[in-house]
Amino acid sequence: MTRKVTVNLGARSYDIIIGTGLLDTLGKRLDELGLGRTVLLVSDEQVWALYGERVGGVLEAAGFKVVAAVVPPGEEQKDLARAEELYDLAYGGGLDRTCPVVALGGGVVGDLAGFVAATYMRGVPLVNVPTTLLAQVDSSIGGKVAVNHPRGKNIIGAFYQPRLVLADVATLTTLPQGELLSGLAEVVKYGVIADASFFAWLEACWERVLARDTASLERVVRHCSRIKAWVVERDETEQGLRAILNYGHTVGHALEAATGYRRFSHGEAVAVGMAVAALLAERLGMLAAPEAERIRDLLVRVGLPVTIPADVDTEELLQALYRDKKVVGGRLTFVLPVNIGEVRVRRDVPEGLVRCLLEEARAGD
Ligand code: NAD
Ligand code: GLY
Repeated sequence: MTRKVTVNLGARSYDIIIGTGLLDTLGKRLDELGLGRTVLLVSDEQVWALYGERVGGVLEAAGFKVVAAVVPPGEEQKDLARAEELYDLAYGGGLDRTCPVVALGGGVVGDLAGFVAATYMRGVPLVNVPTTLLAQVDSSIGGKVAVNHPRGKNIIGAFYQPRLVLADVATLTTLPQGELLSGLAEVVKYGVIADASFFAWLEACWERVLARDTASLERVVRHCSRIKAWVVERDETEQGLRAILNYGHTVGHALEAATGYRRFSHGEAVAVGMAVAALLAERLGMLAAPEAERIRDLLVRVGLPVTIPADVDTEELLQALYRDKKVVGGRLTFVLPVNIGEVRVRRDVPEGLVRCLLEEARAGD
C-alpha cells in the first residue's frame, strides 16, 4: 500500500512516498510539482542498467526531455570533477532554474546529484528516487548533500532539501545482499535511538526483512522515514538533536577511515560502532547490561559485525576518531543509549575509557 510521510519544514516541506511499483508514477508526480520540462536524470551504471530505461521512458511519456547523466558506481564518483561533468550536461541540455535534477540510485548518486542540484544556477529542484535500503531510510531524507574532498568524506556540501522522495521498495529486490545488510545497520540504529517497539519488531521479524518481504520492507522504510523526518523537522541543520542520527558513527567512521574504506561497508562499520557505543554506555552506568546485550545480539543475528578486528591498531583508531567532523573543540562526540529507544549525546567521555573499550571490543577478546 502506498504511504506518505511529510517532512514539515515550512516552505521547504516535502513528501516521502513509500510503496511498491512507484517508479512508474514519477512522471505524473513531477508534473504535479509543476517543474520545468527538462530533467537531469542522474544514476550509476548498475542502477541505470536495471531501471534507467524504464524511468527515462516514464518521464518522456509524461512530456519531459531527459538528459541522462550516468556515472560509474562507487564512492570515488562523489567528487568535484564528477559534479563539474554534471554541470556541463545540465547546461548543455538546457536545464534552467525550474528544471529538476532527479537522483536515481543509492546514497552516492543522491549525495552527488543533490550537491549539483544545490549549486547549479544557485539551486534547482531536487527529486530523490532512492534504490538502496540505506538511501530509502536515511540519505534521501533530510537534505544533506555533499561531495568528498581528497582529505575527507563529505567535506564539501550543503543542506538542501529535496522537493520529493519516491521510495519504491520493489527496487530493493535487485540489491546485493551485502548492500541490504549495510542498510539494515541504519535501520537497527533508528530502533535504538528513537523507537523501542520498532526495535522489538525487528528482533522478531528481521528474517522477513532480509528475505525482502514487500510488506516488511515497506514497514521498515515507513518507520525509519517517520523517525528521520521527526528529527530533521526539529533540527534541520544539526545544531543539536540531529546528532542522534550519528549513533554508531563515531567509532564507525573511524573504523572505515583506519581500514582505508575497503574492509568494512559503511553499515558494517556502523554496526561495530553501535556495539562499542552500547558497551561504553553500559560502562558509564547509563544503560543496563541486558539492554546492551539486546543491541549486540540483534546485530549479530542479522549478520553484522560487532567487534574490531585484532589487527586494527587502537592508536590509529583513536587518531581517526579525533579527525572526524563530529569533533568539536578537540572533544569526541558519542551518542550513547540510555534505553532502547532513547539516546544522549555526550562530549565528556574520558579518552582513557574510550581507549580501554576499543581494546576490549576486539575480536577474540
Ligand atoms: P551506493 O550508492 O554506493 O550503492 C551501493 C551499490 O548498490 C552501488 O554499487 C549501486 O550501483 C548498487 N545499487 C543501488 N541500487 C541498486 C538496486 N536497486 N539494485 C542493484 N544494485 C543497486 O551506496 P549507499 O550505501 O546507498 O550510499 C552510500 C553513500 O551514502 C555514501 O557516500 C555516504 O556518505 C552517503 N550517505 C549520505 C547520507 C546523507 O544524509 N546524505 C546519509 C548516509 C549515507
Ligand atoms: N545521516 C545523518 C543525517 O542525515 O543527519
